[in-house]
Amino acid sequence: MPQRSTTTRLDALLGSHQPLIERLIERYGLPLHAIFLEELEENTRGFFDVLATRYTNSTVAFAVKSNPCRGAIRTAKRLGLGADVASEYELRAALEEGIAPSAIICNGNAKSNEYLDTALDAGALLALDNEVELEQLEDRAKRAGTGADVLTRFRGMPLSGLTAEDQTTAADWTKFGFHIDEAERLFARIASSDRLRFRGLSAHIGTQIADPNGYVLLFDHLFRLAEIAGGCGLDVESIDIGGGFPIAFFAGDEWADFASRLLARLRGEGPASEATTWNDLPMGYARAARGQASPRWVGKAYWSEYPAERMLDHVFSRRLGNGATILDRLTDIGSPRLIVEPGRSLMAPAGITLVRAAGVKTVLGHPVVSLDMGINNHGTNLISPDMFPAAVLPEREDDHPVDAFLAGRLCFSGDMVSKAKVRLNRLPSPGDRCVIYHTGAYSADHFASNSCGFPRPAKVAIRADGMAELWRAPETFADVFGDAADDLTIGDSPGA
Ligand SMILES: Cc1ncc(COP(=O)(O)O)c(C=O)c1O
Repeated sequence: MPQRSTTTRLDALLGSHQPLIERLIERYGLPLHAIFLEELEENTRGFFDVLATRYTNSTVAFAVKSNPCRGAIRTAKRLGLGADVASEYELRAALEEGIAPSAIICNGNAKSNEYLDTALDAGALLALDNEVELEQLEDRAKRAGTGADVLTRFRGMPLSGLTAEDQTTAADWTKFGFHIDEAERLFARIASSDRLRFRGLSAHIGTQIADPNGYVLLFDHLFRLAEIAGGCGLDVESIDIGGGFPIAFFAGDEWADFASRLLARLRGEGPASEATTWNDLPMGYARAARGQASPRWVGKAYWSEYPAERMLDHVFSRRLGNGATILDRLTDIGSPRLIVEPGRSLMAPAGITLVRAAGVKTVLGHPVVSLDMGINNHGTNLISPDMFPAAVLPEREDDHPVDAFLAGRLCFSGDMVSKAKVRLNRLPSPGDRCVIYHTGAYSADHFASNSCGFPRPAKVAIRADGMAELWRAPETFADVFGDAADDLTIGDSPGA
């Protein structure tokens, strides 16, 4: 169960910016999403430092989807990051904020004409996803009298079981990219096009990839694809390995403790009172196959020996089947530009969510803390349950740690902010302020909605100079419901 040893830095920032945070809460209310820019800068520096010492021909492109707002993109530009964009909207914002088109990668499995046209006009890189898009893009480029700079995105690699199934994006069952078996035909087609300019290869294997073997396998495939491309007369100028760099939601021993307690429950050992997940959910454990003694962890892990840029650093030195390291192989194929697209690893550990406790109850003997929010403000849990450290503020001398589930206030049973028990410093009283850590990526935006009529809360960024930036204004009652005096009729009246 998540504890708090990974939150020391955020606690220090919370303490040092306390007066500002109080003013922000007064102004924008709770819940409040806050990003500490000092932390974001540190995380960005981590990637730049590794690349500066190991592989300079590189671009670090911030995955805008992890925190899609102008403030985040403006900060990315200031820090020297490029942008991985997923829609015409993210692309437009990245261009407006002055990110160089050559450092923008347009991803997506179903790009609109507007998206393609804006990318073409700006000269941004397009991660080509499928055959229909190829035809469409050629056509749009012809009409505009221009050419398109493309990376070809691939799937069909044996990469499942490295994170939650629905977050695996380069194995067989994914909607993204061309299958690797189509590579030769695809490359030949691009080579014969007078509109498509081949710039290189791309893939993104999923999010929170805690196991370095995922990246090693990915590189292995990309090197093979580079050979095939070369055989078709194409020069691989860039290799884009996507994002997915993991964060350590909590420390290694805490993770091991959580995993062993969960495993014990799944094996039917220990009483129900020791359940550590909601309804004894197996989280990332696959049920044991026939003949297997124990379930294996195959899902999204919440700890990695190689978080963030350390994953990249480690993978560079890993050896492939022929004994060459990944760095050696990159050199062998002409030192293409390496593009990485981190989102979670830059943003998540820089963010917190402040929220009031709404109440505490007991379900089957387990404490459940209800928060004055829901997974509409904390949406990653909709896809696969995340695990976030949390605490009740302020800490007190008489605190006694207690393990509790965190629920939201939405009117559906799946509205659990944490389906894994969280170790709190104490159970809160209604109205007490709580903090959830590492929520800077996806939590505030991915699937954020007005479920049950709740307005979406504010998102702010806290600067080192003691100033704050409003990254998203809080919605009001009127934003969601309009005004009682509003005329809701649209169109002409039938008699007119
Ligand atoms: C193409 C692509 N690149 C990068 C990312 C960012 O992934 P992460 O936030 O896990 O680093 C995503 C996330 O879905 C993605 O789809």
